[in-house]
Amino acid sequence: MSRVTVATIKEKKLNKQKISMLTSYDYSMAAMVDEAGIDMILVGDSVGMVQLGFENTLAVSMDDMVHHTAAVARGTKNALVVGDMPFMSYHVSREEAVRNAGRLIQEGGAQAVKLEGGLERVEFAKAIIDAQIPVMAHIGLTPQSVNAFGGFKVQGKDLDTAKNLIAAAHAFEEAGAFAITLECVPVLLAKKITEELSIPTIGIGAGAYCDGQVLVVNDMLGMFKGHIPKFVKKFANLEPLIKEALLAYKLEVEAGTFPGEEHGFTIKEDVLERLY
Ligand code: KIV
Repeated sequence: MSRVTVATIKEKKLNKQKISMLTSYDYSMAAMVDEAGIDMILVGDSVGMVQLGFENTLAVSMDDMVHHTAAVARGTKNALVVGDMPFMSYHVSREEAVRNAGRLIQEGGAQAVKLEGGLERVEFAKAIIDAQIPVMAHIGLTPQSVNAFGGFKVQGKDLDTAKNLIAAAHAFEEAGAFAITLECVPVLLAKKITEELSIPTIGIGAGAYCDGQVLVVNDMLGMFKGHIPKFVKKFANLEPLIKEALLAYKLEVEAGTFPGEEHGFTIKEDVLERLY
């Protein structure tokens, strides 16, 4: 199997084939997601909440993203790796945006980057695309805007905000984005945007009409202790299984039943004798 590219992703929409995407933040998980044949792996800035224990994604730095993106890239052979641009890495100037996107490609080994925001971010996306770096846009509930939104809320429910989202989707398409994430928008608004765009929409909490879906891997595996949004389906519930294994380990260590003979290494008897 060869590496999924942005061309493959665009073709999938043309051929009416659904696109799968999951997040990963480390080598081991990325290798499993890759082996499962998932089309794209997002190294999301959700790493801040899921792996680093922050309340939201705002504290995540470029260095954090480069570090995690590089680990994920080392774990993948086939999936398209998308590195998320963290808060304030593409807000100050186009030059900074391009340089930071370049770090995710050069140092992180990603094949594309994702950035959040509406019409006000299109010029930054365009600058990055002009530097030959594929960009996935992300509109709707953009978690980096949590303070501006006053919480994590569904977006595009009234006429003005719905029209704004449609306009932003078209503007990102025109700027050359290869795909667009729609997060927490009403199902029929996501359907309209999906029908109007020639680039694929990747939904998260945006219903089944999107061209593809993305979820946070720890949420869908039942491995995250924090708040799980309504749109998440748990495809497994690993947390109790992991805890059961951890408890079994503790009990065996305390009882002296682990490690067993089969877990040890031998030494020649004559060597041992000379030690006494
Ligand atoms: O950071 C992330 O995981 C994301 C997804 C929720 C789309 O942006």
